[in-house]
Amino acid sequence: MNGLPAQAWLNTLLVLLQDAQLALLQLWHALGLTGDSHGQPAWPWARRIAGETLLIDLGLARQLAWSLGVLAVTLVLVVLAVAWRRHRGVLLAVAALALILAPWPSPSLLLSAAAPTSFHTSPTGFSVNAIARGAEVYAHHCAACHGEDGRGEGPLAASLSRWPPTLVSPLLARRADGDLFWHVVDGMRDARGQATMPAFGGAISDADTWAVLDYMKALAAGTGAVANGSWPTPLLLPDTPVRCGDDAPLTLAQWRGGQRVRVVAFDGDPQSLPGLDPRFQTLLLTRDGTVPRDIPQLRADCVAASSQAWGAFARIAGVSIDKLGGTELLADRDGWLRARGAPGERGWSEADMVCKSGTPARESRGLAGLDGLTALLLKMDAERVRFVKGGFVH
Ligand code: HEC
Repeated sequence: MNGLPAQAWLNTLLVLLQDAQLALLQLWHALGLTGDSHGQPAWPWARRIAGETLLIDLGLARQLAWSLGVLAVTLVLVVLAVAWRRHRGVLLAVAALALILAPWPSPSLLLSAAAPTSFHTSPTGFSVNAIARGAEVYAHHCAACHGEDGRGEGPLAASLSRWPPTLVSPLLARRADGDLFWHVVDGMRDARGQATMPAFGGAISDADTWAVLDYMKALAAGTGAVANGSWPTPLLLPDTPVRCGDDAPLTLAQWRGGQRVRVVAFDGDPQSLPGLDPRFQTLLLTRDGTVPRDIPQLRADCVAASSQAWGAFARIAGVSIDKLGGTELLADRDGWLRARGAPGERGWSEADMVCKSGTPARESRGLAGLDGLTALLLKMDAERVRFVKGGFVH
């Protein structure tokens, strides 16, 4: 899925660049040099560092890393020069020479177009409610071109000057949320300035725009799982309130507490529920988000207490809401959904991994002889998800 080099230095460089740009944005905002755009500080420049290019062009990334290194050394030399008068001339000359000789990357490669919302973060928290709201917005405003299943083959698609992209390709999902948001609000144009994708800024509220982007992520996962047996990009366990017994509902993160999660869509037959398992927390999905009365002793820990959860998970699993019963999903300790078990399937195996974007573990010795589920969980733990979106590691 991701197939990208996992060099630690590249990760560090990308994180550093992202943090530096965010810090600059905060500073500009605090100084009153930039205002707000759609409720968050507006990126005031037309360009930003192209993390996505650095990711695939290691030569460029190396050049930049060297140049930044030289810059740091130059700063030290300047400080020394200030403090050490006797050698000031030499130190400053060396600093200037280093700056000149540094392998500065070409700005046209290093920078890419930015929008005021490029660095915005989605306020939805990728919740089942946002996905449900997004589904309505999508059906009403987007499906005619992008298609019910998100593959870009809606009834209007063939009449457009440019074909809508398929959501199943990782290309789209790797864009920064803020850039996608801008493209929906402001529309898109081709090289001649002709509109290719309409602008929805006047028709859809900001909250609904963020919601429809969440829905598109769920849709991409479901359609990808059906078409290719895997998700185009990693997907987080969507947020939902969780109710355990008669206690007040908790947020998913509070309840999960860094544990793995098994999600079980309850198909109405109490006997089909798996027993409790210490290897993960079990979350029961029911159609209306309430605890079924006819289960004498609930065999799953807790229930997703939202009537929207069933539909959201059906979309992610790539099945209609009538077919979700009996489906299981596994999320790793970081909260990424990793595996999907079809209804009626007995036992787990590595073939159930739908999110394969982990960094392959160096060795898989020792997995032989374990039961399928244990092997799968160990593989999930060993191959942690490294998701790069908008060129930056999440
Ligand atoms: C009239 C047809 C049409 C409608 C309606 C439409 N789109 Fe698009 N959309 C397109 C086309 C065509 C493109 C590709 C544009 C391009 O690459 O220049 C596109 C591209 C996109 C992209 C990719 C942006 C990127 O960064 O490349 C997103 C996201 C998107 N649309 C979301 C939506 C959403 C959300 C809606 C509904 C609110 C919607 N679209 C409605 C035609 C449409």
